Amino acid sequence: MAQFYPDLSLKMLKKGGLHPEIADYMIENCIGIMPLPLGLGLGFKIDGKSYQVPMAIEEPSVIAACSAIAKIVSEKGSGFICKSTPPIMIAQISIVDIVDFKDASYKLKNARKMIIDFANESCPNMVERGGGVEEMRFRSLNDEMLVVELLVNVKDSMGANVINSIAEHAAPFIQSEVLGGQGRVSLRILTNLCTERMTMSEFSIPLKHLDWKGIPGENVAKRVLEAQRFAELDHYRATTHNKGILNGVDAVALAIGQDWRAIESAAHSYASITGRYMPLTRYQIKDGYFHGRIELPIAVGSQGGAIKSNPSYLNTLKILGYPNAQETANILASVGLAQNFAALRALSIEGIQRGHMNLHARNVAIRAGIPTPLINDAVNFMKVRNRINEQSALMYLKSH
Ligand code: MEV
Repeated sequence: MAQFYPDLSLKMLKKGGLHPEIADYMIENCIGIMPLPLGLGLGFKIDGKSYQVPMAIEEPSVIAACSAIAKIVSEKGSGFICKSTPPIMIAQISIVDIVDFKDASYKLKNARKMIIDFANESCPNMVERGGGVEEMRFRSLNDEMLVVELLVNVKDSMGANVINSIAEHAAPFIQSEVLGGQGRVSLRILTNLCTERMTMSEFSIPLKHLDWKGIPGENVAKRVLEAQRFAELDHYRATTHNKGILNGVDAVALAIGQDWRAIESAAHSYASITGRYMPLTRYQIKDGYFHGRIELPIAVGSQGGAIKSNPSYLNTLKILGYPNAQETANILASVGLAQNFAALRALSIEGIQRGHMNLHARNVAIRAGIPTPLINDAVNFMKVRNRINEQSALMYLKSH
């Protein structure tokens, strides 16, 4: 029988954390668990606090790259400095078959307080914790449907469950009591584009500390700006630029049990909020300093969700010192920013393939079935011959 109480030890993380019997209770048609390598992003100082950041990812170089930047930013620069708004999520209720949009809009405006109070009845615990529904707004969508939005302070939760409950509770009331039976309620669901729940992380470093691979810091900074400009001018490049950011953000989200699909969808949607898909980061050179900034909507929680079902998350959160939801968002944003700066620096100076080669060779050796104590040796063998493929790894094994 699987244990249902958390085992807070690194040993259990090494074993994969989640017991298949517990996994079977978490989803339907469960046939097993799907492990990923779990590593630590090192050297992060965020709002004055040092962090070792758990990251679950199969892609080589990501963790090394963001750790290298975190170290420079934290030791030679300002560290990561974050700001975030209160954790406001948005519930959407769509109402179709509205006959008179003008009439509906007057009714909704006059009933604002009544709707908020009624909606709050469905989340007494949230209200008790100082959260709950704070605002109501509405829009007509092309005079085809009405969307009523409830803005909810979800405190330390990610908010999806409470938001959906509020929407389902309030929708029939709005349709029958406020609109007088006009229209038909269609969907009742949160939006993942949580523009009222924004997080920003910034850093600055003196240019003189940016020297890299024999290139003076000022030139490194200028090349990163060129790479940034490419993403601003071209949405094909912006997509890859943002993918690099999400390499970091998602890896942390996965490691600590956050809904990374929600974070992804919010990030991409926000990137195109002006009508044009743009990079989520910005860089600037000013008064001898290089400045970096990321700003994006992030919905994460330190309560609820899958956190308590999977003991791995309790272990990874322990490594982070059990951050609250806002601190968690700050960590995700800072890792994303570090990841992006690392990618732009590498891409604009030496390309990324060289740095990838060692890790790629290790993966090739693993695929070829080289026993783990021999992997480094096999990597050297392949590198010396300039042939990094499974055949070459097998040749090593034969010669051994
Ligand atoms: C690879 O996973 C991510 C990068 O392509 C990001 C970027 O191009 O900025 C290196």
